[in-house]
Amino acid sequence: MRIVPFIVLALSLVIESTLARKYPTSGLYNVDENIGLKDVKGTVVAFGDFNGDKFTDIITLGDDQTSFSIYLWDHVAWTFSLLPTATVIISQTPQPFIITNIVPGDYNRDGKLDLLVMGQADPVRNPDGELMMRVYLGNIDSGWDPEFITVPSSTVQQPLTFDYNGDMMTDLLGYAYEGYEAGVSTLSVWRNVYSPSVPGKIFEVVPMNFTGEPGPACTLSDPHSNAFVDLNGDCLADIFLTCYDATKNQHSYVVYVNNKDSGFSFAVSGLLPAGAGQVTFADMDGDGAVDLVVPACDTRGQCSIYVYYNHQMPLCTSKDQSNCRQVSNLCVADPNFSFSVDPDHNTSPGDLVRFPLNNVLPEGQQLLLADPAFRGKMPVSIHVGDYNLDGYPDLLVVSGTPGNNKRPSSATLLQSVLCANSDDGCLPSAIAAKRRSFAKVTEGADALAQAQDVRAAAFLDLDED
Ligand SMILES: *[C@@H]1O[C@H](CO)[C@@H](O)[C@H](O)[C@H]1NC(C)=O
Ligand SMILES: *[C@@H]1O[C@H](CO)[C@@H](O)[C@H](O)[C@H]1NC(C)=O
Repeated sequence: MRIVPFIVLALSLVIESTLARKYPTSGLYNVDENIGLKDVKGTVVAFGDFNGDKFTDIITLGDDQTSFSIYLWDHVAWTFSLLPTATVIISQTPQPFIITNIVPGDYNRDGKLDLLVMGQADPVRNPDGELMMRVYLGNIDSGWDPEFITVPSSTVQQPLTFDYNGDMMTDLLGYAYEGYEAGVSTLSVWRNVYSPSVPGKIFEVVPMNFTGEPGPACTLSDPHSNAFVDLNGDCLADIFLTCYDATKNQHSYVVYVNNKDSGFSFAVSGLLPAGAGQVTFADMDGDGAVDLVVPACDTRGQCSIYVYYNHQMPLCTSKDQSNCRQVSNLCVADPNFSFSVDPDHNTSPGDLVRFPLNNVLPEGQQLLLADPAFRGKMPVSIHVGDYNLDGYPDLLVVSGTPGNNKRPSSATLLQSVLCANSDDGCLPSAIAAKRRSFAKVTEGADALAQAQDVRAAAFLDLDED
């Protein structure tokens, strides 16, 4: 198996920070020599604060996908260091368990971060096989409780962590493996029933009940971009699901909004672009509503980034105005929220921003939507972060050579810019609506350009400065 070095680049911008003192001028620096990650063999699967010191630590997955480790951020030494007691090697007998995802969370609500580990027996030869799951309960001093807790299996569509009933316990949403019939079975909730008196059990699988009018039929896609995120502006997280219709080869999404005690009800749905990859959620235009950033590559290998702007009622400009949000009361649901862009059924083309990547990615490369070296499906998402601190999220995209993962693969930083006439990606009405487009960052980006074997890229605030 290929050993992929993990490259970290630090962006130094804030003059008074520790980082800036280490790196006196603003710019991109390759810091992997000095932050203790040089010897990591494998990939970073998740971020989280393990020891409760308010600094982000990382969880790495071993190259053979059978072990994971924790690297803690050490503020004083300004480096990551392996927490030796927290490495887990999963036994491959009596049954193989190849890890395909790790989701940190507090599953027993004791204030300590735990890990939900998902895996399959043979994700390469039997990609649709049972998804086994187990929780390792975190224990700050010794790493993990040696006894993991087995969780009832799901189908290959990895369950989403969410809070079904607002009790602050982490539940899961997905298809239960037991008795699953494709196209027939509906969603289930792994309801968190943890109690210290029954320490070996966390979840109980029950049917998911949506309320109100039924939504459109949806078979969850694999991989999916399911998320628990506020989309109607009431400050309560809603359920976003991505669906795949194999007969039409069509990707779509459906949103169920959170009505607190009245459950989750269907709100909106729509198509995603052909060849859509992982959806990223971010407020791209700074209006307070979460938009969708969708990468897609068509059958000819032409890749683009689509931004689906979330339309919500505006802020009130006078006291008597209705259908608007008062500044003093921002968390009000907009029942009419919608996403403007629907590339195939374009109802509101005025807001359409489609950013073609042909002229932006390195020669011969195409957007990477999945990690080709991963056993199972590891979607590569677009990461957002405001690298220049102008209030608008910038994008980090990963590209590679189609069909050949030994050829160069790169990360490209795209800066958010206002839509302009010169920008082919913006229709005139998008310019009028002050939508955003992107421009490749080249100045000071040499350290990024030098990384030639990128499998994933993310923004991370080292030392939380
Ligand atoms: C949905 O309703 C059924 C029948 O009333 C119930 O058994 C099940 O627990 C409910 N699901 C959840 C997640 O509460
Ligand atoms: C939502 O749309 C309906 C129908 O167009 C309208 O009557 C209602 O006032 C709208 N609500 C808000 C909060 O904008």
